[in-house]
Amino acid sequence: MDSDTGCSTTESTPTSSAVPGQPGGGRILVAYFSRPGENYHYGGRRNLDIGNTEVLTGMIRDRVTADVHRIIPAAPYPAAYEATVARNRTEQESGTLPALATLRPDTTGYDTVLLGSPVWNSRAPQIMSTFIDGLDFTGKTVLPFVTYAVSGMSGIDDFYRRRLPTATVTTGLAVRGEEVNDAGGEVDRWLRENDLATR
Ligand SMILES: Cc1cc2nc3c(=O)[nH]c(=O)nc-3n(C[C@H](O)[C@H](O)[C@H](O)COP(=O)(O)O)c2cc1C
Repeated sequence: MDSDTGCSTTESTPTSSAVPGQPGGGRILVAYFSRPGENYHYGGRRNLDIGNTEVLTGMIRDRVTADVHRIIPAAPYPAAYEATVARNRTEQESGTLPALATLRPDTTGYDTVLLGSPVWNSRAPQIMSTFIDGLDFTGKTVLPFVTYAVSGMSGIDDFYRRRLPTATVTTGLAVRGEEVNDAGGEVDRWLRENDLATR
């Protein structure tokens, strides 16, 4: 797909101590953006009550002891697919950083941050830039995860490497949105490779 067609907030009180029995050590934050509504589906369109990235986040939270923060834009994206593609294209081309509806979590006490989003017009949605700007990722491990239709990771892991030079950004997880419900094995493997707990 080319870039033209684009195919519960939980606040937490982190501490800096490692969690006993938590492989990988330390505290883990999962921060994700996901947009339900009309979306790409095997070349057609489908209405999603729960966004694909939210489904993937649920699989991660089932396996890892982590705090989860939903990234919510102050101005919700339209339910219609094409209108969302158009707004996103404008935001990406102009470098607009859409405002957040909620405060960012305090990342001070987290050692590991998982950042999840869909792929939008071959990039991370601009709201991910809003979210990471102004947060200190120094010394943290960042694990990117995305859902997509055709693009795969689409360089979003490298994007975080560039934007978060003081963090260690690991190999990300890219799951095809249409197949997210079958991604349990992939999620297990990815978490194990990154020394995170599976339960
Ligand atoms: C605005 C917009 C742009 C998209 N652009 C791409 C893209 O460039 N490449 C791709 O593979 N999928 C693209 N998609 C499809 C989504 O990445 C995919 O359906 C994803 O699983 C949606 O996740 P969500 O339901 O959590 O928002 C786009 C979807 C939207 C709404």
